[in-house]
Amino acid sequence: MPDSLGPDPILAAPPRPAPDAEALRLRRLFPTYGSLEQRAKRRAPRFAYDYAANGVGEGSPNVAHNRHAMDAVRLVPRYGVPVAGVDTRVSLFGRDYAMPIGVSPMGNPGIVWPGTCGILARAAQKARIPYIGSTVANESIETLAKLAPDVYWFQLYAIPGEEHRRSFDLVRRAEAAGAHVLVVTMDVPCRPKRVGDVGNGLEVPFRFRPRTMRDIAMRPAWALETLRKGRPAFESLRAYVPEGSSIFDIAAFGQREMGQAITWDWVARLRDAWPRAMVVKGILHPDDAERAVQIGCDGILVSNHGGRQFDAAPAAIEMLPAIVERVAGRARVLLDGSMREGLDILRGLASGAEFTFAARAFLWAVAALGEAGGNHATYAFLEELRANMAQVGVTTIEEARGLERWLG
Ligand SMILES: Cc1cc2nc3c(=O)[nH]c(=O)nc-3n(C[C@H](O)[C@H](O)[C@H](O)COP(=O)(O)O)c2cc1C
Repeated sequence: MPDSLGPDPILAAPPRPAPDAEALRLRRLFPTYGSLEQRAKRRAPRFAYDYAANGVGEGSPNVAHNRHAMDAVRLVPRYGVPVAGVDTRVSLFGRDYAMPIGVSPMGNPGIVWPGTCGILARAAQKARIPYIGSTVANESIETLAKLAPDVYWFQLYAIPGEEHRRSFDLVRRAEAAGAHVLVVTMDVPCRPKRVGDVGNGLEVPFRFRPRTMRDIAMRPAWALETLRKGRPAFESLRAYVPEGSSIFDIAAFGQREMGQAITWDWVARLRDAWPRAMVVKGILHPDDAERAVQIGCDGILVSNHGGRQFDAAPAAIEMLPAIVERVAGRARVLLDGSMREGLDILRGLASGAEFTFAARAFLWAVAALGEAGGNHATYAFLEELRANMAQVGVTTIEEARGLERWLG
């Protein structure tokens, strides 16, 4: 699909969105990912914080490795060039976005903070960055598409039973709702044993244990907000369970029918069924990227699921250069994993990504600040990206992709 970067009056005068007095106050109080995560940890019950923060095994080694790999990317600045007109706009799959970062799909973020999906969809629409709604989001495909009509993408977790009847139905619904891009997640061929969730009793069937009740009692703001907004469910899956099913029945359906491998044959059939841009997510091997290109995918999201699937996986940013080389411009190569600040976007671009995504950076901002958290996170990414672009001497995203890395 040809990309165009036509004039956009909304985005013409960066930086956007302009912060108001309250936003400036929050900027002072919570200037970093760490400050937001700390507050999120204080506000969400322990089982919920752990669910999002942790990886698989003890100590979440792959989450730590992702950060380590990101920090290892050094960029060589160039000085003496005019940088007053830094422009972060970028075009992807035929649409213009305000900057090359979007919201990665998140399943059940509503247990960390009630209403997270809606808050982030609205913030993404306002900031004009992609919002990828998960199959197991807490709002339905139809609701999210309405909240973020210009930037909504749909992420599919396949439901293999009955010849993928329900996978195709989800895709049909996403098309009807106006999703711009279909993202098929490949890296969940089975359910990993996340030891933190096991220890916290966060499994299906979910049982309220005394410790869970104590956890909740110690988080009154979260408990009140959950009462106000209702307990989070996988709203897009309601269509596939009997009417009147409880949130636990829906979760049990997900447990039974999902979390299985989707094979390339089925990815190819989805490609045939989906008329717009299609991305495969969770790719780490150049041969798998090649396979996706052969099938006709428009994009490859290089990702290790934020370190949540496989402790021995390389970081996505480590595999990125080899995948970019193999794809050789035949598809757009995207990246996620440990994107915490604007500088990380630049690191991703300089390593070969055309666009980047983040999950926890957005989630912690919402869990820390509620409704204001979505805009807080998008503004922070924009502000930091602009400052770092100027610092290294580039004024466009195209130039940022040509930045020199120092590999030691
Ligand atoms: C709470 C949580 C839920 C997630 N749920 C999904 C999901 O439903 N589908 C999916 O493809 N990836 C899911 N992921 C992975 C993210 O989309 C993304 O690949 C990863 O978290 C990026 O790393 P980061 O959190 O360090 O930014 C989830 C991640 C988190 C933290």
